[in-house]
Amino acid sequence: MYSQGLIGADGRTTESEEFLARFQARIDAEEKIEPTDAMPEGYRRTLVRQIGQHAHSEIVGMLPEGNWITRAPSLRRKAALLAKVQDEGGHGLYLYCAAETLGVSREEMTEELLTGKAKYSSIFNYPTLSWADIGIIGWLVDGAAIMNQIPLCRCSYGPYARAMIRVCKEESFHQRQGYELCMSLAFGTPEQKAMVQDALNRWWWPSIMMFGPHDADSQHSDQSMAWKIKRFSNDELRQKFIDATVPQAEYLGLTLPDPDLKWNEEKGGYDHGPIDWSEFWRVVKGQGPMARDRIKARKKAWDEGAWVREAALAHAEKRRARKMAAE
Ligand code: 3HC
Repeated sequence: MYSQGLIGADGRTTESEEFLARFQARIDAEEKIEPTDAMPEGYRRTLVRQIGQHAHSEIVGMLPEGNWITRAPSLRRKAALLAKVQDEGGHGLYLYCAAETLGVSREEMTEELLTGKAKYSSIFNYPTLSWADIGIIGWLVDGAAIMNQIPLCRCSYGPYARAMIRVCKEESFHQRQGYELCMSLAFGTPEQKAMVQDALNRWWWPSIMMFGPHDADSQHSDQSMAWKIKRFSNDELRQKFIDATVPQAEYLGLTLPDPDLKWNEEKGGYDHGPIDWSEFWRVVKGQGPMARDRIKARKKAWDEGAWVREAALAHAEKRRARKMAAE
């Protein structure tokens, strides 16, 4: 007796209902799934897709901010930005390692990024036009990332959950440095305040799109929530983010660019205006304003790093051979 709807490695349904029920019971009992455990092929593929895309987002996410390192207005700001961008690189590396435990190689994942098969977060396809964008990215983009990623620390797959604990600690620092930067601009000269308001106007809608399509249009949410990969739906996380961010904007004396944003006493949260999903899907499908530049930069880095990867592999092989000879 075989189940319906789940696919095996051969592309057909091959997993017995008994196996799937046993696996689901482990998930329901909050057991962590580890790399050597038996798992449904659909579970493995979902994780490879999500962790791979998450890793790509961290790495591509270094580009918009990296663009401002040489132009940071003070040594203190430069040091913080440099550390933040390096952290994002580290997050990408933990996540690639977590995905590798599922039997996919770094080369395969990179190939999928460079050919457009694997996505990365829509948010990183927008340009950073002013210094205020750096504050807004920390405040909103890292703020949205934390809201989405704290629940991932409880994801059912052990290596992903453990990687996310450190990632979230670092993202909290990123969010605070961003908000602090926005504070100094919002409470600065009228020109500085106008600059941060302009950045907020450009980044607000893309930030709330980061959480993905509405639940009704989210293709993977139901299964990912049943497998406890996701703990909250896209709309639930978006709502939490909006509710946390509105008072922060009010404190700064800034206006969120949504005339329909208002407190709804009954639901205990803010209502917001309609999201432009046509823009979201355009960006997700690779037509974002900076999409071409982002992939071009990643391809250049990958090609130019080939000699480093080859040298590291040759060195590891030499050490292995030496150790074997000595034994
Ligand atoms: N950008 C690009 N693609 C997106 C997206 C977004 N903001 N939101 C959803 N999508 C894609 C999905 O990947 C999926 O496409 P696929 O089938 O080709 O993979 C499709 O739209 C349908 O969306 P679903 O809601 O069904 O997809 P998921 O269940 O995977 O949910 C998600 C999307 C909430 C982003 C989820 O994958 C997730 O939580 N991922 C882990 C966190 C992550 O990747 N965050 C990215 C930002 S990291 C970051 O910001 C770095 C930090 O330093 C700031």
